[in-house]
Amino acid sequence: MRWWPRSIRWQLLAGLLALELLSVGLFALLLFRQQTHELADRAQERIAYEARSLALQASEALAEQQIGWVGLSVRMMGHSPTVAQAKFTDPAGKVLFHSGNEAGESTLEPAEIQQMTLVNGNAVRCVTLAGNRWECVHAVYAGGTLRGFAWVSYDKLWMDEQVDSILRSTMIFGAIWIAASALLVLVMGRSIARPISVLHRGAVALMNAPEDVAHFPLPVVVHNEIGDLIETFNRMVASLAEQRAGLNDTLSLLDSMLAHAPIGLAFVDRNFRFVRVNRIFASLTGVPISRHLGRTLGDLLAAGAAQEIEAAVTQAFSAEEPVRNLEINGASAATRRPWTWLVSTYPVRTQPAQVRWAGVIALDASDRKRSEEALRRSEKLAVTGRLAASIAHEINNPLEAITNLLFLLENLDGMPEAARQYVSMAEHEARRIAEITQQTLRFYRQPTQPARATLADLLDSVLSLYHGKLNSLGLRVERRYDPALTLFCFAGEIRQVIANLIGNAIDASAPGGRLLVRARSSRDWKNPSQSGIRLAVADTGAGMAPGVREHIFEAFFTTKEATGTGLGLWVSHEIVLKHHGRVHVRSRPAAQVEDAAKTATGTVFEIFLPDHPEFAQALSLAAETKTTPATRA
Ligand SMILES: Nc1ncnc2c1ncn2[C@@H]1O[C@H](COP(=O)(O)OP(=O)(O)OP(=O)(O)O)[C@@H](O)[C@H]1O
Ligand SMILES: [Mg+2]
Repeated sequence: MRWWPRSIRWQLLAGLLALELLSVGLFALLLFRQQTHELADRAQERIAYEARSLALQASEALAEQQIGWVGLSVRMMGHSPTVAQAKFTDPAGKVLFHSGNEAGESTLEPAEIQQMTLVNGNAVRCVTLAGNRWECVHAVYAGGTLRGFAWVSYDKLWMDEQVDSILRSTMIFGAIWIAASALLVLVMGRSIARPISVLHRGAVALMNAPEDVAHFPLPVVVHNEIGDLIETFNRMVASLAEQRAGLNDTLSLLDSMLAHAPIGLAFVDRNFRFVRVNRIFASLTGVPISRHLGRTLGDLLAAGAAQEIEAAVTQAFSAEEPVRNLEINGASAATRRPWTWLVSTYPVRTQPAQVRWAGVIALDASDRKRSEEALRRSEKLAVTGRLAASIAHEINNPLEAITNLLFLLENLDGMPEAARQYVSMAEHEARRIAEITQQTLRFYRQPTQPARATLADLLDSVLSLYHGKLNSLGLRVERRYDPALTLFCFAGEIRQVIANLIGNAIDASAPGGRLLVRARSSRDWKNPSQSGIRLAVADTGAGMAPGVREHIFEAFFTTKEATGTGLGLWVSHEIVLKHHGRVHVRSRPAAQVEDAAKTATGTVFEIFLPDHPEFAQALSLAAETKTTPATRA
């Protein structure tokens, strides 16, 4: 119904107009019909009565021989408001008296003449004549003989005028009624439509921007049931806003928990596809968070690790029970560093009966695992160290005896020259054994107080310890240091640093390489006013790739899977910092060298150790209050 209006006001108005027009029209029709019949009946009765009464008056006047009275009665009858014309005719139909003035009215019409023959006795006869007139005729008797006829006619136009007037009044009243009710409907329609359109606008605004409450509360424009509805709507919006704020708080709390929890957290679906991942988990896999979403465990992790986690995820989905503390081992693709994760999985339900995702919690247990291993190894080393020290100690006595015996043998008379030479060589080697036992004991028994130490002694003692290894590799050692150079330090710890650096250089070197050990007075390269000692250990070994170079000072970082603990440089760095020094590394790996013959590979470790009374004091103070990193390691 395209033509039907869309607004409540116009619909009400159109409905009302249709109804009222129909009812007023019907009413007018019924009224017209009823009034027409009633007026006609009444007019006919009246005319019949008038005709009878005229006939009676005429018969009485004729009986009295007063024919003039008859004329008088006819004229009086003509004055009656309902009578159009009154006449008296003789029995032949000649008009003797009539109420009108026109001459033509003195004769009867043929239709009237015909009626005269049909009138019988005392009955009145009424007919409809041309020109919308009714006429009743009554015979007039006097003394038993017919003396004439009394005629009374009625003009139907008069009746029509009356009906018209009634209808006109009805129409005017109907129009006023329709206009008044239309006005009322418009006013009432407005009081219904306006608040509804306010509600409608509010609902649309809420639907388009649920977060924007600037349009609320809606104005309560009426005080009726719709006004109550608007108030309820306002309260509902306020309560929704409150609930949304609560929900937002909960969501931000969950987000913040996920983002900042100090554990790796991820959620995966039944196809092992990541749906959410936090920063720590991404740092464990080494892939940005955004690249996890939509990918599977198998896409991002090594096959072995992925399969183990997938099995735990499957169990969380099927058994709907958590799987706890699964130890998973792998290696970083970039640095090839081994890692250990402790992984737990658990079912995540979004509805009570439906497991939607599996939560994966991953803890990096690599450090713990490495430190456990390092502890085990350092315990072994400590035992070996103690054993070595006690052996060194025990060797001293027989060694002294051997040295004495060799001395006696050398000075024995009659000793052939060749034998004396052998004895001298044996004496030389025995002295080396004595030196090694001394060094071993010195490593084991560290002084607890800092003291001034001769650097050349420290460097020589370490080099002599590595003498065998250096020889077997055929490394050429260049010693560039002043024998008089001294430093106020923990000699044992500085020896440990030198031993670590030289040990690493030997590990990196190929047979026939070079090893440079240098020490000289220098100045801090960042603070030239600070004087001290600069130590350098340089090798022509394999060098370090930038990826390795970045991590060398981290605890447990090693590329020597089987033999290294990864603690050497970490401890050395701590010792240098404790001595207020700095470490500087330059390295050139084989991959960076295009022509190995022209440009050598290798690594240079440079250490600056300040030698200043202030540091000497600070070191003594530190010794009193702290345990040294060496002891910790
Ligand atoms: N001179 C060097 N040349 C090449 N690589 C080196 C050199 N010095 C150190 N590195 C690298 O640095 C890593 C860490 O050295 P660090 O001394 O801390 O541990 P490590 O030698 O592996 O084990 P540890 O010293 O505990 O036996 C080594 O594994 C090695 O990869
Ligand atoms: Mg080392």
